[in-house]
Amino acid sequence: MAKVSPSTLVIIVMCCYWATIAASQSMKYKDPKQPLNVRIKDLLSRMTLEEKIGQMTQIDRSVASADVMQKYFIGSILSGGGSVPAKEASPEMWIDMINGFQNGSLATRLGIPMIYGIDAVHGNNNVYKATIFPHNVGLGVTRDPELIKKIGAATALEVRATGINYAFAPCIAVCRDPRWGRCFESYSEDPAIVRQMTELIPGLQGDIPANGRKGVPYVGGKEKVVACAKHFVGDGGTTKGINENNTVISPHNLFSIHMPAYYDSVLKGVATIMISYSSVNGAKMHGDHQLVTNFLKNDVKFRGFVISDWQGIDRITDPPHANYTYSILRSVEAGLDMIMVPLNYTEFIDGLSYLVTNNFIPMSRIDDAVKRILRVKFVMGLFENPLADTTMVKHLGSHEHRELAREAVRKSLVLLKNGRTATEPLLPLPKKSAKILVSGTHADDIGNQCGGWTIEWHGQSGNITIGTTILSAIKNTVDPTTEVVYQENPTPEFIKSNNFSYAIVVTGEHPYSETVGDSLNLTIPEPGPTTITNVCGAVKCVVVLITGRPVVIEPYVSNMDALVAAWLPGSEGQGVADVLYGDYGFTGKLARTWFKTVDQLPMNVGDPHYDPLYPFGFGITTEPVKSS
Ligand code: BGC
Ligand code: BGC
Repeated sequence: MAKVSPSTLVIIVMCCYWATIAASQSMKYKDPKQPLNVRIKDLLSRMTLEEKIGQMTQIDRSVASADVMQKYFIGSILSGGGSVPAKEASPEMWIDMINGFQNGSLATRLGIPMIYGIDAVHGNNNVYKATIFPHNVGLGVTRDPELIKKIGAATALEVRATGINYAFAPCIAVCRDPRWGRCFESYSEDPAIVRQMTELIPGLQGDIPANGRKGVPYVGGKEKVVACAKHFVGDGGTTKGINENNTVISPHNLFSIHMPAYYDSVLKGVATIMISYSSVNGAKMHGDHQLVTNFLKNDVKFRGFVISDWQGIDRITDPPHANYTYSILRSVEAGLDMIMVPLNYTEFIDGLSYLVTNNFIPMSRIDDAVKRILRVKFVMGLFENPLADTTMVKHLGSHEHRELAREAVRKSLVLLKNGRTATEPLLPLPKKSAKILVSGTHADDIGNQCGGWTIEWHGQSGNITIGTTILSAIKNTVDPTTEVVYQENPTPEFIKSNNFSYAIVVTGEHPYSETVGDSLNLTIPEPGPTTITNVCGAVKCVVVLITGRPVVIEPYVSNMDALVAAWLPGSEGQGVADVLYGDYGFTGKLARTWFKTVDQLPMNVGDPHYDPLYPFGFGITTEPVKSS
């Protein structure tokens, strides 16, 4: 080995040191010690129009590749509902896929990393074996913001477990009409409850540090994810609850019902806001300069980025995509920063380049969009940690998270009826009986109890992921001497020929998402009503309803001995049995009005024609049974 004198060594070390300093001074955006605005400014000044437009483009996983990322400078990828690398993909497969895409982004001239978004709306729900939390309609019942924050933190860990760093949650819609197919994504008809539940945001993104500024995007590092308040604004107020439709509303009601939770979200540092497909008084939100730029950006001072919904800009015209150049112009002018294109990205990129090159859209608007996107990417530490590793995999579907989901299930149940008379309650049920009957299409079906946005976009009935069905939860809970008979839809003869002590009927709606969930009649599909009638007509019964919203139940209630609204509880069915059998008491209070007939709708608490079957805030409470 050649000998190097100590003095030469000192010179070499000094040279390396100065070279590094010089490089980072010339590439300020790469230096995490530089102030945020210096990094943003430095990077923006280096970018070509092509690179800027790439940042504004979000594409779906199905059309992404490392080459596409590199060639078009794409700023973001998403997984749409059910868009997974493979059926039952392991977290390692997710990580490999995402790192593969990221390496494409890092290989670009400036090496700007992409962010990867997914609808983690009740846990990391597209992912096999993830913990599936109750949908928002159930969480609103808990009125427990601390619990919701913990769910956010757990969801962030499970999202990071798959290498993902951006969740399209929370949905802060205020559903004013249960005929809306997305009512289950809404915490409540009451804006005050929805405001409380924005605690999901610090859960997902982390708490703004004590010396940090409120109201600016904040994402606390590698165990947290970027959140997204959606869908701005008025998505839950459309006429007859028709999805993506028109919200006819006075300014006063728009700002007192649908807007308040956005103030809270911005204050809590939400990094992104998604625009609604719907319109306000006939104006499509995707083209609404007044509400997006003048109000949200200028008045409220939102500093994160505004993202479109999936092909949302296409739907500015009727029929959708009739004039795509116009759609790009209107949406970017309105103030949208990132466009969830998400399939035909070259059409978007070419269209936007044309509009900027020909001065239809000023460069200042493009720079505003890109600055906001880069701000979020810098704040979250993406430049320092662009690649995922397997250290977080252990969090996916962990025991701790399943216990948290189980607690949320317990607190989301609402006891609507308990006994034919108040003096003879049926619940809590005795653990020890000779023989009991469990019935209904939702008693032994993980997919049904999870609802939409689970594994598939619309969810799916059947054994679609790991969890505890309500039937297995009941079996786990009763005394070993109790015989549990399960018949999905038993005949009256069968029931009468057996000597059941009591029956539990678990039935309700089948999974759906978005427009296919719209319903003008809100009836429970057959055989639900038949099962209720047959079982409750023959033996003492409790009905557990699995639904995304209040449904038509009045005709059957007099027949039942007890009725529990369990909403869409998710993978941890044990929480239902915990409360039915008195290990815990019922505490839940309706966060929605339960109507008598659909012709009363819309009907929300405070309305002059208010005449509900069960009013907002109703819920019978029980004490836990003391174990002897
Ligand atoms: C939904 C959004 C969702 C997006 C991405 C849209 O259809 O409206 O809530 O985040 O798809 O899957
Ligand atoms: C996607 C969903 C998206 C929907 C919008 C579906 O193909 O999987 O994520 O919300 O389209 O229409």
